[in-house]
Amino acid sequence: MSKSREHILIIDDLLENIQVLATLLENDYEITFATSGQQGIDLASQENPDLILLDVMMPKMDGFETCERFKKDERLKNIPIIFVTALSEEVDETRGLEIGAVDYISKPISPAIVKTRVKNHLAFQTAHKELQEKNRNLESFCLAVSHDLRAPLRTVSGVSKILIEDISDLIPIEARDNLDKIINGCNRMEELVSTLLRFAFISNSGLKKTSFNLSLMIEEICTNLKEADPSRSMEMKIASDMEIFADLELMKVVMTNLISNAWKYSSKKEKSLIEVGSADMKEGKIFFVKDNGAGFDLKFGDKLFGAFQRLHSRLDFDGIGLGLFISQKIIQKHCGKIWALGEENVGATFFFSVP
Ligand SMILES: Nc1ncnc2c1ncn2[C@@H]1O[C@H](COP(=O)(O)OP(=O)(O)OP(=O)(O)O)[C@@H](O)[C@H]1O
Ligand SMILES: [Mg+2]
Repeated sequence: MSKSREHILIIDDLLENIQVLATLLENDYEITFATSGQQGIDLASQENPDLILLDVMMPKMDGFETCERFKKDERLKNIPIIFVTALSEEVDETRGLEIGAVDYISKPISPAIVKTRVKNHLAFQTAHKELQEKNRNLESFCLAVSHDLRAPLRTVSGVSKILIEDISDLIPIEARDNLDKIINGCNRMEELVSTLLRFAFISNSGLKKTSFNLSLMIEEICTNLKEADPSRSMEMKIASDMEIFADLELMKVVMTNLISNAWKYSSKKEKSLIEVGSADMKEGKIFFVKDNGAGFDLKFGDKLFGAFQRLHSRLDFDGIGLGLFISQKIIQKHCGKIWALGEENVGATFFFSVP
């Protein structure tokens, strides 16, 4: 079938209804049809239509069940579905929209409404696909640039280190300081590039969900932090046996970011206190990481999760401002939520939920 014209699949158990819609649309679009939900799913798998017009009342598998089957299928779930219902039918329209249909059209159909709705949804779908394609290109470009930056960066920092080692007696002290600054700058950039590459990996990878003990993961992260700086006075309260169903590797990235932040932003307190726990709320289980550190002004709370957004100066606390951005992307990938509360000089609490 030629792809030059957009393709609409009509699924309805009554041939008369199919005939009415097909007559209306066949001049502008490629039309195929199926007379049952199952036949529609089979046909869509072969032909990948651009839009589906789906009758609600059908024997055996009704429109709702058919729609749910479409939305569960990775290859078919992005095809927009418009329900077609008779006004006389008692149909729960909210249910249809909740399970993923984009619109409803009532029978007896009004030709102008059908044509306009179909045209609008197809235009929206085309724009969406173009945007996705552009995003993919941008991500690949970002990945390539990040990756290719590494080699020249290593040359600059490597040569600077060689200079310090080989001719440190010959170069004046200010020049040495400047070489140190170059090396530090390269280290920061290397860290940034690694984070961007990790982010690209996270964006492109699928979720491998398992059930695991989050408390054990947190204890390991805390032990590593303590070992890196044993001189700090620190109390850590970690609730035991917190279970979660999520991607283990990605959750490790989130927990490492949240706990390293709690560790970092409480470093100026005489004694840092970090608490990690969970609570059962009516919307489900939420987890939290709380500290008694520098906190932040709640006015700027929505900025925290933006890329390169920092509320504290680098002179006070080092960082590049990507940890929370990446954590939010990971939680959103799990269809969860992440948010924060804080008060300046009192502390901060980061919450997240993963359904
Ligand atoms: N526990 C916390 N207490 C107070 N402020 C915090 C806390 N966690 C994050 N913030 C604020 O949110 C900003 C963004 O945090 P994020 O983790 O993304 O970046 P970062 O820690 O600055 O750098 P990095 O990318 O290295 O993690 C921080 O710069 C800081 O201002
Ligand atoms: Mg951070």
